[in-house]
Amino acid sequence: MSKMKIAVIGAGLMGCGIAQTCAQAEHDVINVDLSEKAIEKAKGTLKKIFEGKVAKGKISLEQMGEVLSRIEFSNKFEDVKGCEIIIEAVPENIQIKKDVFSKLDQVADENAILISNTSGLSISEIAASTNRPNKVMGVHFFYPAPVMKLVELIRGIATDNNTYEIIKKFAIDIGKQIVDAPEYPGFIVNRVLVPMQNEAAFLVMEGCKPEDVDNAMKLGANFPMGPLELTDFVGVDVMLATMNGLYNGFKDSKYRPCPLLENMVKAGHLGRKTGKGFYNYENS
Ligand SMILES: NC(=O)c1ccc[n+]([C@@H]2O[C@H](COP(=O)([O-])OP(=O)(O)OC[C@H]3O[C@@H](n4cnc5c(N)ncnc54)[C@H](O)[C@@H]3O)[C@@H](O)[C@H]2O)c1
Repeated sequence: MSKMKIAVIGAGLMGCGIAQTCAQAEHDVINVDLSEKAIEKAKGTLKKIFEGKVAKGKISLEQMGEVLSRIEFSNKFEDVKGCEIIIEAVPENIQIKKDVFSKLDQVADENAILISNTSGLSISEIAASTNRPNKVMGVHFFYPAPVMKLVELIRGIATDNNTYEIIKKFAIDIGKQIVDAPEYPGFIVNRVLVPMQNEAAFLVMEGCKPEDVDNAMKLGANFPMGPLELTDFVGVDVMLATMNGLYNGFKDSKYRPCPLLENMVKAGHLGRKTGKGFYNYENS
């Protein structure tokens, strides 16, 4: 696939990684975030990652310069003009996403394809906030986006075949393996994985030690990482939002979010990113 101009909306954990993934595949990227703080953080993260690669001899200083020069940052949605594909990675909240897509629809090129990296919200609902629902679909990256091989492709009710084929080719071209997932909450991976993380949180609420739950799953089920370590890694708030998406989407009590998770989010114990979750990272 020839070099394209890609916009990524949101420069947080996922947006920054998706921008890196696209730039490494030689596409030009504009990463838009409304928060200057988030932009500065993303710049710092990318610098650190690439300096690490240079230090390990994986890439040269020149290659680092080339990739980083392909990523521009902006706090203006208007800067997505000229982009062929726009990938949204703003917080997992349907109203925020609908507002972002509605704005993008107004400022993006007529033929631009709008992608959501939602973990489980309805692509059809997001698409309905635009005048181009046929050009909207979901591409669910996993954290960390440059490392994780999988992306789930999710078509909304209105997504047309042309959009799907272009995005499928794009996803493969940036080095990902694809699976087609149904447009229901949680898609495939989170539908199976997140209720298990939720169940692990219930065990802690009932008095189990987090390390016992994680060790049990690592040693008894050969998991590379315990479910609570994983929750801290992706963010307790992100995991709870996905669980709420399953609960509200299927209206089934089997997806009831663990109340302990709600308390942790209220307390700001969001996992690694705030220094405290099921484990303490303040000194690490
Ligand atoms: N964290 C994960 O492991 C993971 C994995 C796969 C998918 N996702 C999904 O990716 C999306 C982003 O998650 P994240 O973990 O990167 O969140 P994050 O909080 O790290 O980043 C979100 C960014 O969006 C910015 N933002 C907020 N409102 C905005 C707006 N209106 N316009 C532009 N930027 C705005 C924020 O400043 C922030 O930098 C969510 O939908 C999430 O469900 C997350």
